[in-house]
Amino acid sequence: MGGIVVFGAGGRAGRAVTAEARGRGLEVTAVVRDPARYPDLAAEGVTVVRGDVTDAGATGAVARGRVAAVHAVSPFSGPEPGFDALDPDFFVKAADALLDGLAEAGVGRLVAVGLFADLLGTDGQPVMDDPVAFPAAIRPFALAHTAGLARLRAAGDGGVDWVVLTPGGGLEQDAPRTGRYRLGGERAPGGAQVLSYADLAVAVLDEIETPTRHRTRVSVLS
Ligand SMILES: NC(=O)c1ccc[n+]([C@@H]2O[C@H](COP(=O)([O-])OP(=O)(O)OC[C@H]3O[C@@H](n4cnc5c(N)ncnc54)[C@H](OP(=O)(O)O)[C@@H]3O)[C@@H](O)[C@H]2O)c1
Repeated sequence: MGGIVVFGAGGRAGRAVTAEARGRGLEVTAVVRDPARYPDLAAEGVTVVRGDVTDAGATGAVARGRVAAVHAVSPFSGPEPGFDALDPDFFVKAADALLDGLAEAGVGRLVAVGLFADLLGTDGQPVMDDPVAFPAAIRPFALAHTAGLARLRAAGDGGVDWVVLTPGGGLEQDAPRTGRYRLGGERAPGGAQVLSYADLAVAVLDEIETPTRHRTRVSVLS
């Protein structure tokens, strides 16, 4: 299999995906906005390049020749003092740039990391609508994420076969890789769920190497 391109490669999910890909012998184009800020990323099989996930020209150019792309970008690394600086269209712009850029570059598969907040609760409403389950202060970020998901869904049967993998609860950076996970549906699982970034990355790479979900969003459970 050819290599992959990882947008947000310097972040927690991006690093986990890069490590998992390297563990499977896949080459990685690691996309960051400012390579000088990530001197530790370059390694055997990892090429660090500059790129912004909201720039369609850039996404296509850095992805060309790769078999799949991973969208592990977040405009905020949190905790944030507020979301005044958040562009509510950030994830829509990223979706547009990825769908257009990847199609143009002939990259047929996109795996994106979603946000727990827009899974559905037991009442059928998004988790973010329940102020007990989800802090209202983070709602603008959740809405922006959800708009990006809607944009992917609106693409229909376009040239890029995308899937959004949404953690079914919290994500933990230091939790170990177990290699185990389950894919769920649109519903948030009951009870506390914590998934390691490393196991999320296992799911991401599995959906690249052996795709099982197409043009849909699913939850990833530990
Ligand atoms: N429980 C959950 O559902 C849950 C929990 C955590 C995260 N997530 C989701 O998982 C995804 C990854 O999150 P994470 O925790 O890995 O985030 P992170 O550690 O904050 O990393 C995000 C990365 O995105 C990069 N970035 C920001 N703007 C960019 C742009 N315009 N173009 C390219 N790269 C850009 C940042 O790098 P620079 O700023 O250096 O460019 C950063 O390295 C996000 O979608 C996040 O919402 C979900």
